[in-house]
Amino acid sequence: MSDVRHQPVLPAECLEFLRVRPGGRWLDATVGLGGHAESILQASSPDGRLMGIDRDADALARSAERLAPFGDRVRLVHGNYSEATSLLPGENFDGVLADLGVSSMQLLTPERGFSFMAEGPLDMRMDRSTGPSAAEYLAAVSPEELEERLREAGEERFAKKLTALLKSRESWSGTAELAQAVSRTIPRRGKSHPATRVFMALRMAVNREMESLKSFLEVAPSLLEPGGRLAVISFHSTEDRIVKRFYQKREDVRRITKSPVIPAWEERKGNPRSRSAKLRVFEKI
Ligand SMILES: C[S@@+](CC[C@H](N)C(=O)[O-])C[C@H]1O[C@@H](n2cnc3c(N)ncnc32)[C@H](O)[C@@H]1O
Repeated sequence: MSDVRHQPVLPAECLEFLRVRPGGRWLDATVGLGGHAESILQASSPDGRLMGIDRDADALARSAERLAPFGDRVRLVHGNYSEATSLLPGENFDGVLADLGVSSMQLLTPERGFSFMAEGPLDMRMDRSTGPSAAEYLAAVSPEELEERLREAGEERFAKKLTALLKSRESWSGTAELAQAVSRTIPRRGKSHPATRVFMALRMAVNREMESLKSFLEVAPSLLEPGGRLAVISFHSTEDRIVKRFYQKREDVRRITKSPVIPAWEERKGNPRSRSAKLRVFEKI
């Protein structure tokens, strides 16, 4: 796994919208494997500073290694971006970036349990120091809530059937068993594996991703200098809807992107993960 690199999505657009320049201060709220962070540090050379947050300690260790050449221009913090104001008390930034979802490292490490492509434990926690694993979540969640989560992830047609399946056992042995059971229960649609959305729904629920995103959007303006910008990249329509609507009624934030920015054809071709990406940018007034 040590050679896994996460190809950052919309890197040039992020630098441009965040107006990255020497002397500025930036927050990468989802530093991950450090792809965006590295490009921000390069573009703000020689003295721009970057703070990075991630709730995944393994990701932080990787980005620390990658960003080591930038020395004390970088500071990395372990935690949930929804708690950014208490993780970074008194800090203000010229730009904040949040690149939501999972990284390639998380998806491609079978022991983390994010992928239906490889056998692994039903874990799916981004922060392994806390919270229920996917197996514990499945055992404890009510059928009503599970069905709702599956609907949110786009399984409108099969949410009931899938809920019955997922709750039909006290425990699942791992990702492969669950993925196979899902394949036997619902048909394949298009090119994607039948378990794609089920795994996404579970991951989002286990990590309380929607809740964290809303809390983050609530505090993000207070992290910005006046005129500072917030850029959010989402990969799922429910997330994008939350981002799009969040600041509609706020007077301290104005919208910079009228419609979401999506990757150009070349990027979509070279980086399949980028195909569902949507970037929205806001500015603190
Ligand atoms: C798509 S990756 C970011 C990749 C990064 N931009 C890069 O170029 O390498 C998303 C990262 O956000 C982290 N993450 C997701 N939700 C988080 C949250 N609520 N708080 C902090 N980090 C979070 C994940 O652990 C993951 O490492």
